[in-house]
Amino acid sequence: MKRIGVLTSGGDAPGMNAAIRAVVRMALSKNMEVYGIQKGYAGLLKGLFTPMNARSVSNILHSGGTVLQSSRCPEFREEAGVKKGVEMARSQGIEGLVVIGGDGSFRGARDLSLAGLPTVGVPATIDNDIACTDTTIGFDTALNTVKDAIDKIRDTAHSHERCSIIEVMGRGAGYIAAYVAIACGAEASIIPEKPFDFDKDILQRIIDGKKRGKENNLFVVAEGVGGSVEMARRIEEATGIETRAAILGHIQRGGSPTVNDRMLASRFGIHAVELLYQDKGNRVVAIKDNVIVDYDILEGLAMEKRMRDDIMGMAEILSM
Ligand code: ADP
Ligand code: F6P
Repeated sequence: MKRIGVLTSGGDAPGMNAAIRAVVRMALSKNMEVYGIQKGYAGLLKGLFTPMNARSVSNILHSGGTVLQSSRCPEFREEAGVKKGVEMARSQGIEGLVVIGGDGSFRGARDLSLAGLPTVGVPATIDNDIACTDTTIGFDTALNTVKDAIDKIRDTAHSHERCSIIEVMGRGAGYIAAYVAIACGAEASIIPEKPFDFDKDILQRIIDGKKRGKENNLFVVAEGVGGSVEMARRIEEATGIETRAAILGHIQRGGSPTVNDRMLASRFGIHAVELLYQDKGNRVVAIKDNVIVDYDILEGLAMEKRMRDDIMGMAEILSM
């Protein structure tokens, strides 16, 4: 391929810029031209193409968000939208595309490949909800952001002997909640992957903890379960312990990417371009046991992500 495109799509994630930089510089090193496509699939349809050179991606490695910007583009779910996307790319001489985003974006990437534009997906979402990969760009940074916030909440919860309910992002997945519950010493995480019983899993735990001398309690609730404000009200009513809910929101999506996310994004970006260089499209890159691999997009999308049993059990043991 002589010319490829790169775009970011769906919810942004810290480390997307590091991935864009890797795609651009790897492509240039292979004597391929690269066009940055602004605003995801919406920009592809509108023709928002910019030729990139090595300097176009200077000074972006450390910043959150995405310099190409992102979007959610309903038109792309229709066959006509995908067909137009292929035509727009071809009109610019673009022969292959790297799509940096989540599994929704990969469905668009699959459709583009099937319609004749070889496309490679790079997993980037704070939710870590992509089945074919152990982890995604942005997950580690989001975990660290949430960890900072919860450590601060713990300080004040302890001073006031309060119970804290912290609601974190993750869409339908509980990865952020399950991991930070362990890293921040929470009593438990309440996640969509595991049914929970309010009386047994929350109230009884608080009551038992108090008998053992616990002065404050912390529960992490995934947004896919939600209802943290109502949970706080019910805990206070049932136990008499002052309880506060905090919904962390979009701070979880921003900020400078961690070293892990910069490394992952750089490795993914290089691998994605290597695939297009070898004329391979309809692939998604992934990391398995710290090795970068790739799958057919259809195969990747068909996989099912399961919460690790060891992670689920850990918070319970460690919160004694
Ligand atoms: P993410 O990529 O983070 O999962 P979304 O689910 O919002 O985010 O998907 C991003 C974009 O990908 C959508 O706005 C749409 O343009 C495209 N997309 C999502 N689902 C599909 C689909 N089933 N077919 C084609 N394109 C899709
Ligand atoms: O997919 C990333 C994510 O931040 C989810 O955790 C969350 O459910 C969603 O995006 C929020 O989307 P928006 O930024 O459109 O409100």
